[in-house]
Amino acid sequence: MKRNVTAVALALLTLAASAKQGVDPEMDKFINDLMGRMTLKERIGQLNLGGVGTPKVVGSAKGLDKAVKEGLVSSIGGFDPVAAEDVQRFAEDSMRVFIPMITGLDVVHGYYTTFPIPLGSSSSWNLGLLEESARVAAREATAFGINWTFAPMVDISRDPRWGRVAEGAGEDPYLGSLVAQAMVRGYQGDDLSDGETIMACTKHLVLYGASEAGRDYNTVSMDDVTAYNYFLPTYKAAFDAGAGSGMTSFNVVNGVPTTGNRKVMTELLRDQWGFDGFIVSDANAIAEMIEHGVGGPQEVAEMAINAGTDMDMSASLYVACLEKSVAEGRVGEEVINTACRRVLEAKYKLGLLKNPWLYYKNKDKRKEIVLSPGNLDVARRLARESVVLLKNSDKVLPLKPVKKIAVVGPMGQERAELLGCWSYGMSADTMSTFVEALAREVGPDTEVVYSQGSNWTEQPAIYKQGGEHPSDSLLMQAVKDVADADLIIATVGEPAVWSGEAHNLTNPDLAEAQKKLLYAMKETGKPVVVALFSGRPLVIEDIDKDFSTILQAWHGGTMAAEALADILTGKEAPSGKLTSTWPRNVGQIPLYYNALRTGRPYSGFWATTKYIDSTNDPLYPFGYGLSYNEYKYDNLRADKLQAKGEGDRIRVTVDVTNLGSMPGKEIVQLYVNDPVAKISRPVMELKDFAKIELAPGETRQVSFDVTPDKLKYYDSELKYGWDAGEFNIFVGPDSRKVEKLAVKWDK
Ligand code: BGC
Repeated sequence: MKRNVTAVALALLTLAASAKQGVDPEMDKFINDLMGRMTLKERIGQLNLGGVGTPKVVGSAKGLDKAVKEGLVSSIGGFDPVAAEDVQRFAEDSMRVFIPMITGLDVVHGYYTTFPIPLGSSSSWNLGLLEESARVAAREATAFGINWTFAPMVDISRDPRWGRVAEGAGEDPYLGSLVAQAMVRGYQGDDLSDGETIMACTKHLVLYGASEAGRDYNTVSMDDVTAYNYFLPTYKAAFDAGAGSGMTSFNVVNGVPTTGNRKVMTELLRDQWGFDGFIVSDANAIAEMIEHGVGGPQEVAEMAINAGTDMDMSASLYVACLEKSVAEGRVGEEVINTACRRVLEAKYKLGLLKNPWLYYKNKDKRKEIVLSPGNLDVARRLARESVVLLKNSDKVLPLKPVKKIAVVGPMGQERAELLGCWSYGMSADTMSTFVEALAREVGPDTEVVYSQGSNWTEQPAIYKQGGEHPSDSLLMQAVKDVADADLIIATVGEPAVWSGEAHNLTNPDLAEAQKKLLYAMKETGKPVVVALFSGRPLVIEDIDKDFSTILQAWHGGTMAAEALADILTGKEAPSGKLTSTWPRNVGQIPLYYNALRTGRPYSGFWATTKYIDSTNDPLYPFGYGLSYNEYKYDNLRADKLQAKGEGDRIRVTVDVTNLGSMPGKEIVQLYVNDPVAKISRPVMELKDFAKIELAPGETRQVSFDVTPDKLKYYDSELKYGWDAGEFNIFVGPDSRKVEKLAVKWDK
């Protein structure tokens, strides 16, 4: 039976329909009035995100125009800004009670101005610059009407096979939390309603980065202690920084798909963490619960809304099923009202309810805003700081003046591939290729030539790109082309599409065709610089053994080419450090630095028994990255070695000296270890760091305050606390090259 509007209004006043009433009385009043005018059907309509992935929604065969008119669409995907604006106008003209749409898009690492993929930019450890990048992204996106980004993705992952490692900040919960917060601050600013900021969406809730065997969407199976200590902190951090929304994940937690998992969506997020924004399902995830095998359409819709998933992205099951569920008593009307209120609160906070056209205020300035010199400068600086120098044992870098440089390898003349996964606004035409950027940077006295040398791969199982000529003939040509060059730069790795969603690899090695090219170049006897581009850590033990000069440039975005040229020529010394462990071989995966101690440690930090056919050591450890300068760490000391009580602190100081001849940046890292605890604790955990700048010859004292906060963990009862007793504090340039201080802390 349909209820009339007045009855609904009365019900609303009497039901506890608020997500968190009383925080902002003016907002409460506004939303009470609004909800009082909405039918149940319209309130359910606010829980429906339609149109993601469908460019021209209005008038489309999908019938979204009818749904919009009936008040059954709350928010839309902003893939096509013109269409999104049309929908908003159509909604204004046609809805009985007009409620503006939120326009959402995956603005993951920039919109037009594209920054390095998140795994790359996290290697900068530069929180200020990361925040600036999110700020730029927000300003560009809002000029096109977008006011909600499906970012940051804060999933911790220990598996380079998983294509979505590209989208996160690596394996560490401490660094990952700080990066998450920087991004949220950048997107949302101080005022979510100023028209140039966008609402962040913490994703994917939860544990999505731990899918078994690195296969996207696969099962996750994890004990609570691991979840609470290592995989959950980044989500909480993003919410603590004020992220206005969150997105469910495709995996199960304890066997229950997260989208329908009340323990996660309500008990953890809201009851424990106090999150009061709204949760959207991942795309079609409500319908996909049917495939998970937990019910039919009606059941999964009910499971999801009752779990606390407020908005249905693209499955349209809430609008199809929930009126019936309410009528038949399986979903309380107050559940709908609470979800609706959360969505409306977000719209209110975004300023949309007062001004539907707020996000079009800069429409006429789009050209000025996107790709502005200032924005490109942020992109160039971040791309530079993301580059990680992995090896430079012959001191080939920075490049010395030579007559002729030959660039080989499939990335050398690419533009779009430099953008990486999740790139929408940027048109690659205006970007430089690496060859172009390098030629500009080295100037007219050095000739730069290019010879492709190989395709990305010849393996038919994966995408064969740029394969007009087979790699063998490209290689023969390259050997001729490099004959009179003084130095070779090999631009190898992965095209953008080998990482990102649903793009996993069993073997993230360098493709055979590219390796052949590298070894042929080595045979020329000329110095070879291996410049790697990828969306993940690569498994390159052989390359590390056989080549002296290797750097990791990721997919660096709009200014990737310029930034790499800046680093190679020594305009800036490299300063990036890895935010995930690089294994020697696939069999070692998962390999991560903050592993638990075991009863039979293999040696030192890299716990557990040894393989017969491999060491346990990583190829490159977490936190690792070289510079053109050497930095000397000296005189590690503490103001005291004993502390007492929760309010105490130990100040740890180290002297860091730039022994090199260039100004440079160094990331000084502090780790702790609790040798005797209630449960087995990791061999070490990152708990602080500082990115400092040093002039040639300069020494700086770098100090960190260690407090009991840095010693806390969740025990097997999930109690959060710290143990009195001994602790080890380690300081160094990466997770392996550290000096130790033993301290004692009484309660
Ligand atoms: C992804 C999300 C993304 C959404 C919308 C999904 O398939 O898992 O990360 O935000 O699509 O594009």
